[in-house]
Amino acid sequence: MPLIQHKDAGQPLTLLNNSEYETWLAAQSTHTQNWITATQFKGEGLCLIPSQDAQLASAVFVSKKLNDFFTCGELVNQLPCGEYQAQTQDEALLFSLAVSWGLSAYQFDRYKANPKTYPVLNLANADLVKRAQAFLDGICLTRDLINTPASDMMPQHLAEQTQALATRFGAEFNEIVGDDLLTQNYPTIHAVGRASVHAPRLLDLHWGDKKHPKVTLVGKGVCFDSGGLDLKPSTAMRYMKKDMGGSAHVLGLASMVMALNLPVQLRVLIPAVENAVAGNAFRPGDILTTRKGLTVEIDNTDAEGRLVLCDALDEACNDAPEVIIDFATLTGACRVALGTELPGFFCNNQDVANGLMTSSATAQDPIWQLPLHDAYRDMLKSDIADMVNSVPSPFGGAITAALYLQESIRDDIPWVHFDVMAWNNRKLPGRPVGGEAMGLRAVLDYLENRFA
Ligand code: BES
Ligand code: ZN
Ligand code: ZN
Repeated sequence: MPLIQHKDAGQPLTLLNNSEYETWLAAQSTHTQNWITATQFKGEGLCLIPSQDAQLASAVFVSKKLNDFFTCGELVNQLPCGEYQAQTQDEALLFSLAVSWGLSAYQFDRYKANPKTYPVLNLANADLVKRAQAFLDGICLTRDLINTPASDMMPQHLAEQTQALATRFGAEFNEIVGDDLLTQNYPTIHAVGRASVHAPRLLDLHWGDKKHPKVTLVGKGVCFDSGGLDLKPSTAMRYMKKDMGGSAHVLGLASMVMALNLPVQLRVLIPAVENAVAGNAFRPGDILTTRKGLTVEIDNTDAEGRLVLCDALDEACNDAPEVIIDFATLTGACRVALGTELPGFFCNNQDVANGLMTSSATAQDPIWQLPLHDAYRDMLKSDIADMVNSVPSPFGGAITAALYLQESIRDDIPWVHFDVMAWNNRKLPGRPVGGEAMGLRAVLDYLENRFA
């Protein structure tokens, strides 16, 4: 059963701002007014209204925050099963209702015997259903990929998922696997991933008309981050199945871009590896040479995300796209700076950054810009190589990680780097605990504004 569908029918669902409630109440039948008095409904939250013969006739939902993106979606968890139709012509409200309805009902049911069933939202406008479903499919894909345990989401599984997405939208899929990464000059992806029994890969998806402007997405695909030889302690390792969250974000975003047929030439690059421990693992003190030819002294094998990303970002610059956007669960430091629910982003072009902030407000999808503070670049210096992969100082860790990535970016190519948690630690309306897409609706709004 879908959660939303195109149908002009259903139990009437009235959505009201607090300020509209009294006027609405005055216009109701005596039957309804009596019911509201009898149940002591105070004009806040949900009220189910029966017919004369005690069937469910309609529902009314009153809120001070009706226009907040996730407010109405929680109704999917409160209404009895059945089909509902919202009594409003407000397209923005219908859209946020539809998307948040689906997101509130999200459950990761791959390993569950009896998944829950939910009420269905009917919408008379077919275009609106299509757009909302594209959002739901993209965001739920991101959540599913993150929630899937590492044992079932290793580099080969990420490859299968990328391939399946390519097939669904008629995109082209290529990959470079294992030792071929060395012959094709992706040394850092190989070095980080070589200790795993699951061979490292670079996944590459191409879609869209060659006449359209190029947009390239890059996602950190560390399928499990044990920390490597600089092994993480158990609490820090516990949720590291989510360290492919960046790749889950770019696949979810790609799914939305392709479903909505944005006039762009899309490329998605995912370095997919497991940061594992074995006799052939890369070590602290090793010096790697990146695709670009820079030598990197390994200060910490747990700073692996920037290593796999730097070779992928270098490749992303090769075809000079209009913009490169990467997503990564790159640093704990970014969580210290902004908390777990606000993704940080860095950008080498302030027009793009401003556009993203505007889109963040429009889409009601919070993101926050952090600085590529030039003076901290010195911290990445190594005595014996061109740079180190991590700075021992605990301060400004999200910034120094971003500055490391910037070394692989051509100055003339606008680039955005998102450092995301990719996980809800607590439940909020429309956002269950577990894998989460963060900043995707903001970025999609930006891409639509700029290219559509
Ligand atoms: N995947 C982690 C970062 C991370 C941890 C993101 C928790 C979100 C939540 C990354 O690979 C890592 O371990 N980074 C280190 C870097 C340090 C060694 C310079 C970190 O943040 O501690
Ligand atoms: Zn790490
Ligand atoms: Zn990591």
